[in-house]
Amino acid sequence: MHAQRTQVLAIIGQGYVGLPLAMAAVDAGWKVIGVDNFPAKVAQINGGSSPVEDVSDEKLQAAISTGAYTATIDFSAVELATVITICVPTPLDHAREPDLTLLRNAARGIAPYVSNETLVVSESTSYPGTLREIIVPIINEFKPETSKSIYFASAPERVNPGDPSWNQTNTPRLVGAIDRESQVRALAFYESICDSVVSVSSPEVAEAAKLLENTFRLVNIALINEFTQLCSAVDIKVHEVIQAAATKPYGFMRFNPGVGVGGHCIPVDPLYLTWWARAHGGKALIVETANLINLEMPSYVAERALKLVNPSIKNPRVLILGVAYKPGVGDVRETPVSELKVNLKKQGAEVAWHDPLVPMWDGSKPVDLDWDCDVAILATLQPGMNLNLLIQKGIQILDCTDSISNLAGVTSL
Ligand SMILES: NC(=O)c1ccc[n+]([C@@H]2O[C@H](COP(=O)([O-])OP(=O)(O)OC[C@H]3O[C@@H](n4cnc5c(N)ncnc54)[C@H](O)[C@@H]3O)[C@@H](O)[C@H]2O)c1
Repeated sequence: MHAQRTQVLAIIGQGYVGLPLAMAAVDAGWKVIGVDNFPAKVAQINGGSSPVEDVSDEKLQAAISTGAYTATIDFSAVELATVITICVPTPLDHAREPDLTLLRNAARGIAPYVSNETLVVSESTSYPGTLREIIVPIINEFKPETSKSIYFASAPERVNPGDPSWNQTNTPRLVGAIDRESQVRALAFYESICDSVVSVSSPEVAEAAKLLENTFRLVNIALINEFTQLCSAVDIKVHEVIQAAATKPYGFMRFNPGVGVGGHCIPVDPLYLTWWARAHGGKALIVETANLINLEMPSYVAERALKLVNPSIKNPRVLILGVAYKPGVGDVRETPVSELKVNLKKQGAEVAWHDPLVPMWDGSKPVDLDWDCDVAILATLQPGMNLNLLIQKGIQILDCTDSISNLAGVTSL
């Protein structure tokens, strides 16, 4: 019985983080139970159809057919596991503050079934103290009486969906646990899956490091977005400036301007940091300002695009190219293109969109590239997007990606 249990991993949440982790663990020899509270998703996964781009249907079907992986909505399945990782969303609430409801629900859901000697790890992004102050108390309160020793660690996921180079296996993993025994077990678990594991002294260090990583990106994106506006106002080509600065071999890291920031991480995680700072009587001023600058980008982009339209056209037709928040994925969570669309409409534009990876967005379907428009905005250059038709028709394009700016009729942000 014990020998069997040592091989079983339960992963709570089968999304962008949980499902690729499940496949990496299967590759490493674990038997994996994927628990998700969304029945349709579980049915889809068990039917061999992957809901995330980073896991192919073939990979998923192979893992299911060998019995190495199964998905379920039944939390009691975690009874079999020696390791449980929590990979559920940590979004913002209506006040743009941390909403840990799903994380609490996940902890509450597994608690009655956590067997003795089980390691519970949170991979979800959150502010320092989340593991110790929220997850540990919930599990300790509701765990079975026989489960005397439960081990706890934080190992924030760093995966970058759609990245062809960096994945769950080769991205170094931070691990910080609540005590020595938990740390030893958590390190051993991640060493069985990841090439490199970095031990830190506490879960709070791991949690804070994750917020620092993503806040670093938010702030630098804001800097380049602000810098772009300053350059454009005096007709300096910002991309040439960036390229020039990037020739410095040290002390500079390239970031590119765009419509704003999107996805589950960059627009969200830094607000966990600002909230956490306020909760401790502090202020994260640079982060607050960076967030505001990024939030204003869609309005700036809308203005720049509409300037390309003949002023005699009162209700210009605008085609947005690419609505996912980054290339190569169909993920529209927190996409800044939503605000771009709102801003364009506010100024009287008729807006349609095209994205080969997104079948449905914002209550509407994509249009073909031959949709008759007065201006197009390249927000995200998706693979397989052939813009020749627009170029040949002489449509003005505002390129927010700096990928086609050398073509006729294209203006770079
Ligand atoms: N997506 C990324 O690029 C990324 C990268 C690093 C870290 N993270 C972090 O990882 C965590 C998970 O993000 P994600 O992108 O995988 O989310 P996701 O929405 O893709 O997947 C989460 C899954 O959890 C399920 N779920 C929600 N509440 C649940 C509950 N109480 N019990 C069981 N299942 C539940 C949902 O149905 C969903 O399938 C978040 O904290 C996020 O910030 C995400």
